[in-house]
Amino acid sequence: MPLNYTLSLIKPWAFSQDLTGPILHVVNQNGFHIRAMKLIHLSKEQAGEFYEVHRGKPFYDDLIDFMSSGPIVAMILEKENAVVEYRKLMGATDPVEACVGTIRRMFAESKSHNAVHGSDSDENAIRESNFFFNVLERY
Ligand code: CDP
Ligand code: MG
Repeated sequence: MPLNYTLSLIKPWAFSQDLTGPILHVVNQNGFHIRAMKLIHLSKEQAGEFYEVHRGKPFYDDLIDFMSSGPIVAMILEKENAVVEYRKLMGATDPVEACVGTIRRMFAESKSHNAVHGSDSDENAIRESNFFFNVLERY
């Protein structure tokens, strides 16, 4: 059975533009329940560890600089088949390609400033949730 939770981040640009409230409204409207949430400003080292899988790619250094440039909102979201459902709600990486009604289409500024992160597999949802939250921080 697929996992019923996923890990999402509201990225620094979206947070700085006060898009947190509007994004959370869409998240809740689409049936996701918040099970954990915090504001955190990642160090470069922490951002590098989180995006370890992209190390060596051409966008990696910029991604790490960007993701450590200011506070983010980290959250665990619960819904049936959460990883797949949240990827659908989030939309394509590049907002130009994201469907109408998706978070990235509505709130992203560009491919790098694309408002939100969402885990891409159940395995990564577990790893990424454990990266940000201990058991006492989950409800
Ligand atoms: O976030 P998503 O899973 O859709 O995309 P990814 O391929 O896992 O890439 C992680 C993040 O790196 C993206 O969300 C973008 O912020 C950034 N990225 C970028 O700036 N330029 C690219 N060509 C690809 C990704
Ligand atoms: Mg990804």
